[in-house]
Order: sequence, then structure tokens, then C-alpha cells
Amino acid sequence: MKNLVHPSGSPRRRWSTGAALRVLVVGLLVAGMALVPTGIANAGTTLGTSAAEKGRYFGAAVGTYKFSDNTYMSVLNSEFNSLVAENEMKWDATEPQRGVFNYSAGDRIVNHARSRGMKVRGHTLLWHAQQPGWAQGLSGGDLRNAAINHVTQVASHFRGQIYSWDVVNEAFADGGSGARRDSNLQRTGNDWIEAAFRAARAADPGAKLCYNDYNTDGINAKSTGIYNMVRDFKQRGVPIDCVGFQSHLGTTIAGDYQANLQRFADLGVDVEITELDVTQGGNQANIYATVTRACLAVSRCTGITVWGVRDCDSWRGGDNALLFDCAGNKKPAYTAVLDTLNGGSSPTPTGNRFRNEASGRCLDVNGASSANGAQMIIWDCHSNANQQFTQNGRALQVMGKCLDVPNNAAAGTRVQIYDCHGGANQQWVINSNATISNAQTGLCLDVNGAATANGSAVIVWGCHGGANQRWSRA
Ligand code: XIL
Repeated sequence: MKNLVHPSGSPRRRWSTGAALRVLVVGLLVAGMALVPTGIANAGTTLGTSAAEKGRYFGAAVGTYKFSDNTYMSVLNSEFNSLVAENEMKWDATEPQRGVFNYSAGDRIVNHARSRGMKVRGHTLLWHAQQPGWAQGLSGGDLRNAAINHVTQVASHFRGQIYSWDVVNEAFADGGSGARRDSNLQRTGNDWIEAAFRAARAADPGAKLCYNDYNTDGINAKSTGIYNMVRDFKQRGVPIDCVGFQSHLGTTIAGDYQANLQRFADLGVDVEITELDVTQGGNQANIYATVTRACLAVSRCTGITVWGVRDCDSWRGGDNALLFDCAGNKKPAYTAVLDTLNGGSSPTPTGNRFRNEASGRCLDVNGASSANGAQMIIWDCHSNANQQFTQNGRALQVMGKCLDVPNNAAAGTRVQIYDCHGGANQQWVINSNATISNAQTGLCLDVNGAATANGSAVIVWGCHGGANQRWSRA
């Protein structure tokens, strides 16, 4: 187990120009022109990067209680470039007792996002649901004061860190009335929404301020009620910048989904898809694609957020409404979204490296050695020969040797390189779910312990399709 971990700055990384060139030349000799190093093919292969190419974000709602789940975090970190707290910034979470604020979970989400260059949506300052018990018991002027103080305190705490706030959530009634929903907040007076927006603007002038609601996915009485409010706010100078369309969808989507977004945009506000999830059924991938296409077609649609990461993380449990299955595998709906973001079809990732989906790091021969028995690790992707593979039938060649595990190796055995001899233990099958299995044992190429650090060992292990067993060409 020597050479298992390379502390950063270990000699292995200190390439002399001569050594680097020698390695490169060996690699080029082995595989000819196919080994010309390629750039890192990030662009267009994740939701976040593809959306960013279109000037948009692609986000997910998250819960801090999942942050210890490696599969969850690897999907989150590799695919999304915006986060929103699924519950942690709501009134009951942030002000559990009157005047006593708790921002720890919300801060954790903000810090995670910011450390990775992701945007943060704020959700939500005022809502009839998930109010703390003490607020549910208030009414009239007392409730109004408490509500506006809540807006001021929370928006001030997160000042400068939030891309857009859902200042008010779900204040309109379902059905044909187009009227406000009855709630304790509504009973403080019809002007509670504009008072909240003014307080939010004063507290965080840099955040876009949104009104957010559901069942607004086409032109209907409810969305028209909201439309009229937004038009009135714009006319009277009430500070509103955006409208969020939750888009919790079933098995159909309104034919005028895009037209509805556009009519709001034409009022001079941004529009955002804020809580997208879609019942799994024959139509799931198409509906996801339709929503994505609509957002791309409306220039003021600034981004899309899905309400959770994997099906099993969803508040809609049995609907399997999200883009990743419970093991973190990409679903057809994922591919439909990515292809739509990329304008029709996504580039098949090409390149001679194998990038591990959990870590974003590449399969690498430890120490750039070409010796028999040199072991495989993951390391930051680079263009040196010890990460460049050529496929020769089922053999994967690197450093003039073949990717190898000892004959009939048990789960947990380190993967190495060895002189090519064509034996079944040197034959590898690249599977459609992006795992790579050994032809002799059927075990999969796996980063030991789902580790993600530079130097983590690559072993063979029973195939489970998790992100630490998925490798994409890069
Ligand atoms: C949901 C969360 O996903 C659940 O975990 C929680 O128990 C209830 O709230 N519209 C919204 C979101 O604006 O805040 C809701 O989130 C889903 C519906």
C-alpha cells in the first residue's frame, strides 16, 4: 500500500521539464497521434456548465442533513451552479422564537455554494406555511410588525450573498378567483406584500427580489392575478425584480408555458423556474425539456432550479420527479435537459482520460511510472501521459502498459499497470452507465471508499453504479 496518498506538493508533482517531456514522448510513441493531449472537456457536459454557456444558472434545492452523503454531494458539486435551501431559510428555521434568530444551517448552505462559485437563491422570507408557532398565533399590527422585522433581519443577515430572494411565497389563491390567498399575513392588510418588498430592498439592495408561486405554469386566473400585481408594482415603483415559477408539474404541461413566462418578462421583470420537479411517467423527459426550452427562449429567464437532487431526496417521494435516480445515476430526463441546454444534442465526451464523476479527478498512474505493478490513483486531470489511455480492443493502454488487476482479483484489489498480454484480467468493458468492469471478474473500477482526494486508490469492487464508479471521457 505504499504510494497510496500523495500529500500535495509531494515530489511526484514536481515535474522537471525533461521528465515531463520524456513521459509525454513515451506516451506519444505508444499510441501515436491519438494521444495528443486534449483540453479538459468540461463545457457542455454538466447542467451548470451548459446553462452557464447560455448565460443562465442551473440549481438545486438542498438540505444540510444530506451534506454527509457522498453520492449526493458529488452530484451536487459536479452538476449544479446554484443552490437554494429547501427548508433552512424559512421563517420557522430562522426565527424559532420571536426575535431569536438562527442562521447556522442557512449559512452552511451559503458557505458551501460560495466556496464553489455557485449562486444562492434565498427561500423564503414570508409565507403562510412553515411559520414558527409564535407567529401563527399573532394577528393584526403585531403580526405585521413581526413579519416586516423578520424580512429586515433575515435579508440583512444574508446581505450581499443572495442572487435572488423569494420575498413572498404563494400568496395567491388556487382556482378561478385570481385573488389573494386568505392567510394571517393577508389579514394584516392587502399591502403586506409591498411592505415586505420595500423592507427587503432596504435590507439587501443587491439581491433581486422575487414573488414566487405554483400553479402559475400557464396563462390562468392565478397567474393573471399575479401578473396584475406585478404590473401594478412596476407602475407604482414597488421594488420587484423577478417572478419565480415553482413548476411542480405532473404528467402534462400547459401549452402556453413559454408565453406565460414571456408576458411577465415583458413587464420588465426577470423570470426564474424555481422549484422544478415533474412526475415520472411517459412524459417526464419531454416536460423537463419543454421547460428548459422555454427558459432558453425567454431572454429574461435567468435560470432553472430543480427541487432536490435525486428522486429519493424529493419532497414528492414516490413521484420520482427529479433528474437523478436514488443511486445518483442520470435519468433520461437529465439527458433531455442537458441536450436542450446544448441546443439539441450534447457532445459525446471525448478525450483520452477517464474522469471520475464523484471527484472530477482523472484515472492516473501513480508517480507517472511505467513499471509493472505501478498503481492507479485519481489525481487532478492534466495532459501528461500517465492519464492518457488508448483503447485497443478491450485493453486500456497507458504508459506503454495495460490496465491490469491480478488474475481473479477479489473486490478491494488495487488496479495497476502491467505488460500487455491480452488476458481476461486486462480486459475492460465500458458500460452504458459509465462504469468500467473487468471482463474476468465483472468487478468495477472504483475509487476506494468513494474518496475524492488526490492520490485516492483505485480498486475493483462490486458494481453499484455510484459516482465513484462512473468514469467519463475527458
Ligand atoms: C417543501 C420542502 O421540500 C419540504 O421538505 C417541506 O417539508 C415542505 O416544504 N413550495 C415551496 C417549497 O415553496 O418551500 C416547498 O418545500 C414545496 C412547495
